[in-house]
Amino acid sequence: MQGKRILLGISGGIAAYKIASLIRLLKKSGAEVKCIMTPASSDFISPLTVATLSKNPVGIEFWDKNDGTWSNHVEYGLWADVFLVAPLTANTLHKMAHGGCDNLLMATYLSMKCPVIVAPAMDLDMYVHPTTTRNLEILRQDGIQIIPAESGELASGLIGQGRMAEPEKLFEVLKAFFHASDELAGKKFLITAGPTYEAIDPVRFIGNHSSGKMGFALADSILKKGGEVILISGPTKLDLKHPNLTLIRVQSAENMLHEVQQHWSKVDAGIFSAAVADYRPVKAADQKIKKSEDNLTIELVKNPDILAWAGTQKRETQCLIGFALETNNGQEYAADKLKRKNLDFIVLNTLEDKGAGFGFDTNKISILDNHNNFTSFELMSKADVAENIVAYMKKYLK
Ligand code: C5P
Repeated sequence: MQGKRILLGISGGIAAYKIASLIRLLKKSGAEVKCIMTPASSDFISPLTVATLSKNPVGIEFWDKNDGTWSNHVEYGLWADVFLVAPLTANTLHKMAHGGCDNLLMATYLSMKCPVIVAPAMDLDMYVHPTTTRNLEILRQDGIQIIPAESGELASGLIGQGRMAEPEKLFEVLKAFFHASDELAGKKFLITAGPTYEAIDPVRFIGNHSSGKMGFALADSILKKGGEVILISGPTKLDLKHPNLTLIRVQSAENMLHEVQQHWSKVDAGIFSAAVADYRPVKAADQKIKKSEDNLTIELVKNPDILAWAGTQKRETQCLIGFALETNNGQEYAADKLKRKNLDFIVLNTLEDKGAGFGFDTNKISILDNHNNFTSFELMSKADVAENIVAYMKKYLK
């Protein structure tokens, strides 16, 4: 942790008193620490304690009422390698999710250039309230790492989930962050995600149930390891923001192919998780098709195979990964695709596994590689599946 620059944001919950221990752990490990407190948090821990332990002035107000000096929130943003908000109260969570900016901590958050981690802390009813769940989900989609609250006795006397993770745990997360953030530094990745929409007429399309969750989880995992990502996604509700991310939104397979062709030669590896429509209407009607005959025939033509195109252009130093969703004879079809599309490995999922596939937050995969190794994984969150795929891919990076 020597020389790492950690900005701590402290909001006003009882767990704020524990931040003193975290600052000590960080300082002992050689890190530089600066703190910003919300005005309410100074009721729970004295700014003098925070300033003394961190060996830096504490930012609370936009400007110092005594000498009129202004606290430059942009400079905090530029200084930090990571911004940890702990404890994160329901109020500050709400502001972070919706762009509120009524104190120095929030202004700093909005001008942050580095990754952000949060450690929520609140009473158990507040923690499980649907608004809290929604706001945490918004933060997660904004690329923020969340250290879940732990279970135990709460300040209210109630017992349940809501306690801020202990300072030792926060310290471990920060250590892991710095360790991981170098793993894929300097490497570039192209990911395709989501469905494609193939226009029938100006209002209708042929699509599929792909949510894009797997591809976005892969992008998130790589970004957290310091890699650069070009994410080419079909229509999805998902969003992701990160300084090292270029997110390109497309509609159809042809649009997706065009973008892949622009970027494939620049990357070290490609992960093609998009559920590309195999066929598209030969011609999309210019006007909305009117209801008239009992039967309507739409002639379809095969879409370009984007992954196969990348396979034909693949350089010796590039790694190429495909997905296969099969309902029967999975391994056999996957082996065929692996060869035909010139892949290094293929991720296989079947719709037979409960909780796996479209729309779910979980997935159950197997990996078949070009040395004929077949590895099956348990059902797990798509975030954990992404970790496993990225770990597997690391063996192939040159
Ligand atoms: O051949 P199949 O469609 O089952 O192959 C699935 C794999 O190929 C996935 O990785 C998918 O993203 C990719 N693919 C593609 N372009 C297509 C069809 C599939 O990139 N037109």
